Amino acid sequence: MRPKITIVGAGNVGGTAAQRLAEKEVGDIVLVDVAEGIPQGKSLDLLEAGPICGYDTNITGTNTYDETEGSSICVITAGRARKPGMTRSDLLENNVNVVKSVVEELVKRSPETILLLVTNPLDAMAYVAYKVSGFPKERVIGMAGVLDTSRFATFVSMELGVSVENVQATLIGGHSDPLPLARYTTVAGVPITELLSKERIDALIKRTIHGGAEIVHLLKTGSAYFAPSAAITEMVTAILMDKKKILPSTVLCQGEYGLKDIFIGVPAKLGLKGVEGIIELHLTEEEGNLLRKSAQEVKAECSEVDRLIK
Ligand code: 2OP
Repeated sequence: MRPKITIVGAGNVGGTAAQRLAEKEVGDIVLVDVAEGIPQGKSLDLLEAGPICGYDTNITGTNTYDETEGSSICVITAGRARKPGMTRSDLLENNVNVVKSVVEELVKRSPETILLLVTNPLDAMAYVAYKVSGFPKERVIGMAGVLDTSRFATFVSMELGVSVENVQATLIGGHSDPLPLARYTTVAGVPITELLSKERIDALIKRTIHGGAEIVHLLKTGSAYFAPSAAITEMVTAILMDKKKILPSTVLCQGEYGLKDIFIGVPAKLGLKGVEGIIELHLTEEEGNLLRKSAQEVKAECSEVDRLIK
């Protein structure tokens, strides 16, 4: 039997993730959404692309959760997305309730599943899923770092005029203020600190931090989905294929990086059990201070979550 991948939210992010995962044939897909007809229509459309694209992934669209039973992994994209002028935190109150009820429905039917959070504000939503599910920390993960890292790698490749395939980027921190680590970011093995001035690196970091807002500003009607769905696909594939791949992921830190009881982006090893390890990089004092500052902001959002889900 193939693994079952549930995707909750059949909007742009969920729908495009379903397409990418269907094309990779890493598992069969259940696409869930409250909007009648949308998950069914997108699923049928994706099935009808199979003969052309050469995949035979089963894809089911539904408005209820019964079809999700026994899922190996559940990707949660449901909730509001940003409009121009909004911060991710502006979504908190609405999306806490959405994620809470989605998680309750999912864990009832798939008590052994892994939860992959995509809804914003990302770090706080991972915390909601952890609290509501009662799952061990290994099985609650947030998608942000792969996306932010990919944005940084894109800007580095554009700046230097080299293939993105030559860029290996590393990043830590919350999704609202990610911290690309220039010392650990290389082009064909050479750290970018040897290739670019501090001013240029700082400019690329700044663009990365505001990468999501840059897309929201251009699209005007919603937020990014091509790169987010690519990031989801990379994480789901690493988990279901037990790759033991180290990817920047939002996970619960319990002492790592000196942080406790907080979901934040750090390099984590992903495999069939979910989070199979956290890699602790040596940080400079400045990098450590920025990570702690980011952690404080996430903590403040999580206190708000505690108040809202009481
Ligand atoms: C982004 O950064 C939607 O948070 C997502 O584009």
